[in-house]
Amino acid sequence: MTETTISHIKEFIGKEVKLKGWVYNIRSSGKIAFLILRDGTGFIQNVVVKNEVSEEDFNKVKLLSMEDTIAVDGIVQESPRAPGGVEILLKSIEMINHYKDEEYPIQKKEHGVDFLLNNRHLWLRSKKQFAIMRIRDEVVKAIRDYMYDNEYILFDSPIFTPTVTEGTTTLFETEYFGNKAYMSQSGQLYQEAGAIAFRKTYCFGPTFRAEKSKTKKHLTEFWMVEPEIAFADLNDVINISEDFVIYIVQRVLEKKSNELKMLGRDLSKLEMIKKPFYRITYDEALDIINGNGGKMEWGDDFGAEEDTILSKNFDKPVFIHHFPKKIKPFYMEIDQENPDLVLGVDMYAPEGYGELIGGSQRIYDYERLLKEAKKSNLNEDDYKWYIDLRRWGSCPHGGFGLGLERTIAWITGVEHIRTTIPFPRTINRIYP
Ligand code: 4AD
Ligand code: MG
Repeated sequence: MTETTISHIKEFIGKEVKLKGWVYNIRSSGKIAFLILRDGTGFIQNVVVKNEVSEEDFNKVKLLSMEDTIAVDGIVQESPRAPGGVEILLKSIEMINHYKDEEYPIQKKEHGVDFLLNNRHLWLRSKKQFAIMRIRDEVVKAIRDYMYDNEYILFDSPIFTPTVTEGTTTLFETEYFGNKAYMSQSGQLYQEAGAIAFRKTYCFGPTFRAEKSKTKKHLTEFWMVEPEIAFADLNDVINISEDFVIYIVQRVLEKKSNELKMLGRDLSKLEMIKKPFYRITYDEALDIINGNGGKMEWGDDFGAEEDTILSKNFDKPVFIHHFPKKIKPFYMEIDQENPDLVLGVDMYAPEGYGELIGGSQRIYDYERLLKEAKKSNLNEDDYKWYIDLRRWGSCPHGGFGLGLERTIAWITGVEHIRTTIPFPRTINRIYP
């Protein structure tokens, strides 16, 4: 008899197999029991009929409780009514671990979200989390494949840094052998060194923001992928972002449609993610927001409310470009036609999921960058290397950052970003 996993079960129809895993659910009545086994690769129904197993095994089944570890032997059979179209006719069962003292904490009833988050180490075993984490895995693979296939070099940025990238209000400071250091807010500045050395580079790793906002879209530790491209202008940055997002969504539709269905995701909303996305200026975005009950003045940044209005106004992602200079970081290239504007762009996902991408063309002139850095009160010594990039071989270039967890929240259609990462870190949570 072959030992296999649920992911391969369809290759064994009509045959006897052994599976090892955990009890997901158990229902018994008189001479029959239905046991849902999960093995980390999937879920399968085991039918336990009294006459088909030894008396000892039938009694064992009656003692089972959720998350007991077991091994089962049985015959794989097609069953149109079973979830997944196949089930196991159980022949024998072996108990590997049975914790007698207490009931498994997460039961088939409504639990408060705080309770679930405190039990995140166990909650991850549920069906919904199974689907989300597999989609996360697929999105990560799609990101790496896109970069590799399009000739980007993986060029990892450091996490400990002496510099601020996206503003001082969200910095995590740490002590570094008697000096101050910060947890990276973005790998971008290092990618700019990479792009001049290797033309197209990217980093993909955790980034840290001391976000005081308790929204559905903010984590304090999240993953970001950041490509940087020599000779790219704002338009190139927009076109590449569009291509990239379509690639990721298509890949998940192709490879993880079962998981999307497990989550009840409306696939038609993802199937329409095709070219072209919408493109509007900051000024046009302002009109939309104010036309939908918002109250923004020119020069205000979008907050959580505006973010949602913008995101709900479009059925496909929308690029917003040409922002007021004063609300964007020092490194963004200035618009030659209007020095109050920068060549920055944000991409908003539909259905209220908010900003997924932030990017820009970068200032490449030495004097101008130096001037902007000084205006932002940046410590020249810390940024010397970065400004230096504008002295030798400088060129127009640009790039963007895509937030992994916000992208997953949108694709999976989950309500809150905290379930898109195994162990979320938020303003009031660092456990488990
Ligand atoms: O717009 P941001 O701040 O852009 C940058 O960091 C640039 N340096 C990127 C670049 O040009 N290389 O962040 C980029 C994206 C956001 O659009 C969002 O998706 C995500 O990172 N993000 C967060 N995700 C979860 N929680 C947070 N607190 C986030 N802050 C940003
Ligand atoms: Mg941004």
